Amino acid sequence: MEDSIRILRINGPIIWSYGDTPLKIGEQVFVGNLQLIAEVIGIEADHTIIQVYEDTIELKPGEPVYPTGLPLSIELAPGLISSIFDGIGRPLDYLATKEGDFLKRGTHSEGLDREKKWEFTPSVKKGDLISGGEIIGNVKETSLFNHRILLPPSISGRVVSVREHDEYTIEDEILQIETSKGTESVSMLQKWPVRTSRPFIKRLQNKKMLFTGQRVLDFLFPIPKGGVAAIPGGFGTGKTVTQHQLAKWSDADIIIYVGCGERGNEMTQVLTEFPELVDPVTERPLMERTILIANTSNMPVTARESSIYTGITLAEYFRDQGYDVAVMADSTSRWAEALREISGRLEEMPAEQGYPAYLGSRLAEFYERAGSVLALSHREGSVSIIGAVSPAGSDFSEPVTQNTKRFIGAFWALSKELASARHFPAISWTDSYSEYIENVKPWWDQFGNDKWSSFRNRMMYLLTEDQRLQQIIKIIGADSLPDDQRLILETAKLIKQGFLQQSAINPNDAYSSIEKQMSLAELILYYYDESRELLKKGIPVIRIWALPITTEILRIKDKTPKGEEHFISELKSRINKEFSELKTRY
Ligand SMILES: Nc1ncnc2c1ncn2[C@@H]1O[C@H](COP(=O)(O)OP(=O)(O)O)[C@@H](O)[C@H]1O
Ligand SMILES: [Mg+2]
Repeated sequence: MEDSIRILRINGPIIWSYGDTPLKIGEQVFVGNLQLIAEVIGIEADHTIIQVYEDTIELKPGEPVYPTGLPLSIELAPGLISSIFDGIGRPLDYLATKEGDFLKRGTHSEGLDREKKWEFTPSVKKGDLISGGEIIGNVKETSLFNHRILLPPSISGRVVSVREHDEYTIEDEILQIETSKGTESVSMLQKWPVRTSRPFIKRLQNKKMLFTGQRVLDFLFPIPKGGVAAIPGGFGTGKTVTQHQLAKWSDADIIIYVGCGERGNEMTQVLTEFPELVDPVTERPLMERTILIANTSNMPVTARESSIYTGITLAEYFRDQGYDVAVMADSTSRWAEALREISGRLEEMPAEQGYPAYLGSRLAEFYERAGSVLALSHREGSVSIIGAVSPAGSDFSEPVTQNTKRFIGAFWALSKELASARHFPAISWTDSYSEYIENVKPWWDQFGNDKWSSFRNRMMYLLTEDQRLQQIIKIIGADSLPDDQRLILETAKLIKQGFLQQSAINPNDAYSSIEKQMSLAELILYYYDESRELLKKGIPVIRIWALPITTEILRIKDKTPKGEEHFISELKSRINKEFSELKTRY
């Protein structure tokens, strides 16, 4: 029998096909004798353009193309948490156990385990009128996570029957519903096309803080849940370490980590490290709230292109259950390079630096899916996005960084100079910004009205003054500065080394609690204020620096684990003691 669609031409992961069967843009198809997974990306008068998500080696013109009639979709149901997927939502861990470590080409796996039974507790009853996206029951998926089972957004009507509390597979019928089109059977499994955002009732303002446990971020450049941040930085400046820190410590309910085009060993590190980590609040294993999407540099570029949409679709699904989800994408530059490569093979007219003209709109399609919403489930949920950007040579004027800036509210600029001085995290306090200060202020005000904003303003002032004075010193030298300005330099040093620096590998300091952040800031500013009093009495600034307490302030962050923050506040009385001794000597 003649197949009606055939391969005409092949260029890497892009193929041109011809035939009579009409295909749709966005439709998933299977290509060649191996039935490789692919998606229709263009339709022209006499042929169709298809991108293949697997290696096309040995594929030949004339081989068949099989339509599916459905858009490229991922599966949504219990079983997602702690899993590792590739860029098109195929499970890497589950398949690895069945097929060895590597996915065979043309593996049409079902995304999720079909046999596993989940304990389902219904939350609707016969006769209830329910609409798309509402919660119909619960499954305790991990000890940290309650999976709320949602009615697919497109279905609504009256409940005809519900299964009682028991164990079911994701394909078992759990509900029958009378819709305008007749009775439909509903299971826990639904599918969603990755390139389409999931519907919600309305957008909400982002008001909750995304607390990360990283002082420079939380204190100086915070983002709210539902916010969007970029981490631009050249090679080795700390993008991946920062993303890992956020995935480990930020207080989102669900973490979706998209390893996009980076080295495989970094994903391995996530896989080996994360299962050992515990949540600082719940003290449960962090993998119990984490999903990994791995598209490392050795995997096909097309799947890399789709991986961020797979990630954001998963995030929206959990948002719709009423959760706060954080998506980390490392790195969006590698994703943009995939876009560039595909565009080149399509022989499109390149724009700036070879990237396609639609780079900005594609980035928008990703970043605009972040935000806080009132979901169809009538619960509030959010998706935050933190995207790493890797501009070659730390040149922030290149197209990916510049386009990204249009869609983000916080810019965490990594500095080459700080990284080479081993000031980590190397987040520049002069080049970074957050437009979310007003969003998160009410959250910080819980810990003292205006306390955080006044500490933050004072620290930013001292850091800016320090920056200005450093320029002057270059010309006239530090010795010629008056003592009040030299005190600013010294206090800025305390802020930089005793507050902003935070080692990801020091177990006492990798995560910094709210209390620790507040008491460190308060201590340093107290030292500054009390020192100014001493200066007024004519005590030289170098005598103040020489006091043991100055060094102690620099070191206290590394010595103080969670739960022992009171030691930081207690240093105030040591300031009092050493300062009054100094006074009596004058
Ligand atoms: N917060 C941090 N604490 C300690 N070391 C860090 C920190 N951030 C970065 N580093 C150091 O910088 C190195 C490079 O960081 P990495 O995140 O891999 O850079 P990038 O992803 O930008 O290329 C790390 O291996 C580590 O030694
Ligand atoms: Mg990296």
